[in-house]
Amino acid sequence: MYILGIETSCDETAVAVLEIIDSTLCVLSSVVSSQIKTHKPYGGVVPEVAARKHMTNMMPLVSMALEAADVSKHDIGLVAATQGPGLATSLMVGFETGKSLAFALGQPFVAVNHMAGHVFSAVLPHELHERADSFEPQYPFLALLVSGGHTQLVLVLDVGKYKLLGNTRDDAVGEAFDKVARMMQLGYPGGPEVSRHAALGDRQAFDLPRPMLHSQDLDFSFAGLKTAVLYALQKETTTTPGQYPIPVIQDMCASFEAAAIEVLVKKTVRAATEHAVSSVIVAGGVSANSYLRKQLTQAVEASNSVASVLFPAFSYTGDNAAMIAMAGYLEYKHTGATQDYLGLSVKPNMALGNE
Ligand code: KG4
Ligand code: ZN
Repeated sequence: MYILGIETSCDETAVAVLEIIDSTLCVLSSVVSSQIKTHKPYGGVVPEVAARKHMTNMMPLVSMALEAADVSKHDIGLVAATQGPGLATSLMVGFETGKSLAFALGQPFVAVNHMAGHVFSAVLPHELHERADSFEPQYPFLALLVSGGHTQLVLVLDVGKYKLLGNTRDDAVGEAFDKVARMMQLGYPGGPEVSRHAALGDRQAFDLPRPMLHSQDLDFSFAGLKTAVLYALQKETTTTPGQYPIPVIQDMCASFEAAAIEVLVKKTVRAATEHAVSSVIVAGGVSANSYLRKQLTQAVEASNSVASVLFPAFSYTGDNAAMIAMAGYLEYKHTGATQDYLGLSVKPNMALGNE
């Protein structure tokens, strides 16, 4: 079976074709058109501009993904598109396109939660055309979802059965990376820039808080950490406001990254232990962070209760449509296609665990 996946929840237009034969999985194509350059001058995504870009990108990308996969549209057996969460007008473009294609082709349609897509991004084979034999994870497992909009610990009991264990009370961790980057004029998106400078800095140079590290719950908070960075930067002397010497930038990035990642790692291991799950999947844009990968891998190795941690390929950490096709297929297999989908609309606030 060939599955067409479509993703337009934020500023990436993405289309992918997956092939499932018996119980083997292969990503035949995954095309992503990023709008980062368009939104860069604004320091963030401008929704109206994003939606217009999706409109012009959408059908050429569908055509490109089919061509790259060497699959005819008539061979598609399932269409999956993101219904939410995300920017309403961006979501509409991909979701309505997916519905229309499924209807025109006379094939089933699955409405996919973008965060479920991230969860299952980790099971995708790392290379295009690489075939995975058994790809479905063992349930239950714990998912740490870390992106520009989310910081969540989710217990995945089965496909479509999610229990939210912990959430951020304020900023998402990716958002904190982006804001800290902006304080030091490191550009947008800030995560990769902060990470690059952090690798060259001293992680103990600035004494920053570890918010909610010892709280009884599994929630997170990053607003206080961000403010602590701001106050610490204000004590530094600069010749031009906002422009700090490179060593200060490196030390601050390293200290901030150490604080944010320590909380993520400790709470993830605690959540897995408390809920007696032996495997953890990490996904979302921040799962590209190499310090997070290293620290969590080490913590899992040192733990008696957690056996494994899985990260997506770097090409699938950010928003993409292969993960939407994957989550859509698993949902289709477990619970069937979305019924009466023609009248459905997007859900900008869609959440895992309380749909
Ligand atoms: O999942 P994603 O591509 O988009 C959504 O937010 O849905 O995540 C983007 C976020 C941004 O905040 C970006 O700064 C962050 O992921 N990010 C990183 C890294 N790469 C991307 N944060 C820390 N370290 C990275 N290497
Ligand atoms: Zn995302």
